[in-house]
Amino acid sequence: MKDLRQRYGAYAIVAGASSGLGEEFARQLAAGGMNVVLVARRVDRLERLAAELTEAHGTVNEVVALDLLEPGAVDELMRRTAHLDVGAVVASAGVALAGPLIEHALDDELEVLSLHAAVTLRLAHGFGRAFSARGRGAIVLISSSIAAGAVPFQANYAAVKAYVLSLGQALHHELKGQGVDVLVLAPGQTETEGLEKIRGIDFTKMPGGAKMPPPKAVGAALRSLGKRSYVIPGVVNRSADLLGKHVVTRSASARMYGTIIGRALTDGTGSDA
Ligand SMILES: NC(=O)c1ccc[n+]([C@@H]2O[C@H](COP(=O)([O-])OP(=O)(O)OC[C@H]3O[C@@H](n4cnc5c(N)ncnc54)[C@H](OP(=O)(O)O)[C@@H]3O)[C@@H](O)[C@H]2O)c1
Repeated sequence: MKDLRQRYGAYAIVAGASSGLGEEFARQLAAGGMNVVLVARRVDRLERLAAELTEAHGTVNEVVALDLLEPGAVDELMRRTAHLDVGAVVASAGVALAGPLIEHALDDELEVLSLHAAVTLRLAHGFGRAFSARGRGAIVLISSSIAAGAVPFQANYAAVKAYVLSLGQALHHELKGQGVDVLVLAPGQTETEGLEKIRGIDFTKMPGGAKMPPPKAVGAALRSLGKRSYVIPGVVNRSADLLGKHVVTRSASARMYGTIIGRALTDGTGSDA
């Protein structure tokens, strides 16, 4: 991954860099020689990470504290980075909810929808245009291994991850002739603060083996850039994806997810699913 700076340019923007997969993308992009623009709300974490990356790799990093759900936030990010040679953007800002949809506040579900869909679209549109004009660049979007089907008790989250997958794969083909590599990373359960924060599911009751360490998922993504449109890291996750696409019908897959996640709900509401 040493050639990332040569391939794409001097700066990478990572949205959602204060923890989890975004933080790991920042580490690996800096290890690949790119200066990183770290974006999230928790500025103290971003500043610590910026200093750490400078110390480890000699990169010149920038911190942009932004709530990406605020109106105009992506435009502001583009304005604040317009003077930099930005060649890559990673859209890793995200939140997830689990449990029966109608028991969640609608505003919380709308935040999930906006952050994963509208913010991702704004980043892909804005930087897609900019990268296309300069003739090279990389865009990484984050979907999920559960994006292929309907998923009871993660209904809105899984639906919006299907949107991200579709958007990214289509853009991969639209932009490849213009020198822009678009990749969708679709991780399974990955050891992040975000996964730990999801309320409503007891993950010890979920099948699927051990959670993946973020370096493995991010390494798979960066190695796949420019080679394919979509990567699911891990054999177990890839097998589940193939099973869902080619062996089990969509309705059966929804019933299966409903049963598996229903049994793992911490309030027991889905145990008869
Ligand atoms: N972990 C998994 O098992 C897993 C599996 C499949 C897909 N994913 C996807 O991977 C992506 C990253 O998730 P993660 O597990 O790494 O979660 P995480 O550790 O919670 O990281 C999420 C990041 O998003 C930022 N963020 C959240 N809301 C924001 C907002 N309104 N404005 C700006 N930044 C915001 C957070 O920073 P601040 O709070 O500081 O703003 C944080 O840096 C998400 O799209 C998630 O759906 C994760």
